[in-house]
Amino acid sequence: MPKDSHGRDINYLRISVTDHCNLRCVYCMPLTRLTFSPHEDLLTASEIAKVTRAAAQVGFRKIRITGGEPTLRNDLLEIVSGVASVDGIEDVSLTTNAILLPKLAVPLRGAGLSRVNIHVDTLEAENLKRLMRFGTLEQIQAGIDAAHEAGFRPIKINAVVARDYNEEDVVAMARLTIERDWHVRFIELMPLGGGECAGVALSQYVPNPETFARIESELGMLEPVVAADPADESRNYRLPNARGVVGFISPVSDPYCGNCNRMRLTSDGKLHLCLLNDDEVNVKEALRSGASEDAISAILLKAVSAKPVGHRLEDGVSTEHRQMFQIGG
Ligand code: 5AD
Ligand code: SF4
Repeated sequence: MPKDSHGRDINYLRISVTDHCNLRCVYCMPLTRLTFSPHEDLLTASEIAKVTRAAAQVGFRKIRITGGEPTLRNDLLEIVSGVASVDGIEDVSLTTNAILLPKLAVPLRGAGLSRVNIHVDTLEAENLKRLMRFGTLEQIQAGIDAAHEAGFRPIKINAVVARDYNEEDVVAMARLTIERDWHVRFIELMPLGGGECAGVALSQYVPNPETFARIESELGMLEPVVAADPADESRNYRLPNARGVVGFISPVSDPYCGNCNRMRLTSDGKLHLCLLNDDEVNVKEALRSGASEDAISAILLKAVSAKPVGHRLEDGVSTEHRQMFQIGG
């Protein structure tokens, strides 16, 4: 397994396959002045498979497909089956807003996808409309049902908490875990990309300790759940007699950089070394000039060894050149 210069084992590659999305969450995508990568800049399914083989060769074991919204790629099944069939890859998961899952859940499972994480910020239809702007709660619920029926387990739900939008709705979301074997995780807003969305992330930020206290005061004590995976960025708990899990992902109030095990690939073929920094290594250039798999492996190892030790949000430093939808969380 590749170790970075800070002794961390890096075995998890997050691959963004598109910067497009069918929603426009206020903290992620502005409504105007959006620019997307031209189609020819996106890595193809076979280029993604090649990077995955090169990654597996040097010890990567887990892949997550992200976006933007990855289900908008019309060759997503080909991408997933290409990645899932690589020797050494043990787990392939997908982050999605679930809108297109009613059609895709069963074929994705057939293509070798192991798990899905579904992004939905609230169960209040009006608040959802303000926060995620396009799409409806019914559509997302139909997508969650489709994921469940297709057999994806556990269902993980990710909610980003934003002040004046959904900070009180966290209680109803956490309550879901009492009856259902779901993992409902609350994510702190991260300021990325310097523009409008970074501004929203800063002004509407809600620290997770506040969300934690709100849930406990309404629903009872949260008992810690022992982490199955030390690199899990989520601190997990269980409500009294609950079947599911409530998780807190707190990159701002409780950074987990020390346990970081991941590398990110942007849809336009750059290895992004840390979510909250700008450093990148170009892998597309090598792919398109005919580099061998071994050469791609060497580029991956170079990127791993150049990973910064952690973010510096407390000094006001963040990613400036990339927005979240270009990196995929
Ligand atoms: N801060 C935290 N999480 C974000 N996401 C998008 N933008 C932000 C932000 N500014 C999350 C979405 C999704 C994933 C791709 O990233 O909720 O789960
Ligand atoms: Fe789309 Fe996800 Fe960004 Fe929302 S957070 S706009 S669903 S990529």
